[in-house]
Amino acid sequence: MIEPTTATARPQAPAAVFDWLDEAAELRARAGLTRILRSRPAEDPVLDLASNDYLGLTRHPAVTQAAAEAARRWGGGATGSRLVTGTTVLHTELEVELADFCGVEAALVFSSGYAANLAVLTALTDPDTVIVSDAYNHASLIDGCRLARARVWRAPHADPAAVAEALAERAEPRALVVSDSVFSVDGNAAPLGALSDAAARGGAALLVDDAHGLGVLGPGGRGALAAAGLAGRPDTVATATLSKSLGSQGGVVLGPRRVIRHLVESARTFIFDTGLAPAAVGAALGALRLLRAEPERAERAREVARTLAARLTEAGLRASDPDAAVVSVLAPGPEQAVAWAADCRTAGLAVGCFRPPSVPDGLSRLRLTARADLTERQIAEAVAVLARTAPQG
Ligand SMILES: Cc1ncc(COP(=O)(O)O)c(C=O)c1O
Repeated sequence: MIEPTTATARPQAPAAVFDWLDEAAELRARAGLTRILRSRPAEDPVLDLASNDYLGLTRHPAVTQAAAEAARRWGGGATGSRLVTGTTVLHTELEVELADFCGVEAALVFSSGYAANLAVLTALTDPDTVIVSDAYNHASLIDGCRLARARVWRAPHADPAAVAEALAERAEPRALVVSDSVFSVDGNAAPLGALSDAAARGGAALLVDDAHGLGVLGPGGRGALAAAGLAGRPDTVATATLSKSLGSQGGVVLGPRRVIRHLVESARTFIFDTGLAPAAVGAALGALRLLRAEPERAERAREVARTLAARLTEAGLRASDPDAAVVSVLAPGPEQAVAWAADCRTAGLAVGCFRPPSVPDGLSRLRLTARADLTERQIAEAVAVLARTAPQG
């Protein structure tokens, strides 16, 4: 976060209390880091490569109908926290089906993936724990580390040898190794097999945030743990969001039954948070059942990503080598990235724009989502727009 560097005098009047925010906004603007909210109309004519709707399910009739039915039957909200009134039969059904699909003992649904990550990081650690966290992990994992009462060691990106060394040298009896399965900025996959080996040898648990892997990686989209042969391990826990491949909203923790029980009884973001709204639960269940019936959607998302990256490279752009459904293209700097994304939008293409401080390596880029439902024509159109509007130099 950019903040004014010089301490200013104490504000003299109520109207001046927030003056420092204008100064901070000015600093962000000068650094090319202004962020603006844009309301999206329901019928947006723009070709969408910016959302996380990897399987193109969020508006699928089976998903919207499941959401509507759930809202009609159970109401607009969950009415309370999960331990009080906020667990409907539908929540339990979703948890049973998610656990079965992902090949783990049990699942616990949260109001967001963010809350799920905070829950695991705070409830499975204590002052006798070291958390070994990949330097490129998602902000919600970083915030979980900040909230945890454990020592946190920021591990070099995708470096199982460094993780093994840190585990061997630790003084704490317990350790938790934490990594995204697919890193959200570049779309590269973590070396999960080697991380799992390092964790097992060092007597540590492994937490994998599979937000970008569920629905895309593994057989039929069963996720990164299934892809790496790690699903169901007694020392491994995964988290995921229901808001990407499953086209809904909410989060989930997947793992051994005793971990789930511990979270129910002690995770503050589970206990003190209203349960996920029934419509979101219904939508996620609808999407999960659809994915089970049409497992080819997962492979199609990966194939679209590979095609998109190859065509962008052929067009002379610096595209990443995608391991899942995220492709990024490097921009020369933050201002150019913002201008490039704006030019794409004017030309009818929505893309994500990542720049510092959201990128751990300081490099600005556009981020493209390879949706399973993109047609060959749409892929060609997207590549043409990106090439035509690319910054020079
Ligand atoms: C890797 C990763 N973890 C966690 C989250 C948070 O999930 P949610 O949006 O459901 O809070 C996201 C983004 O949304 C993410 O990309």
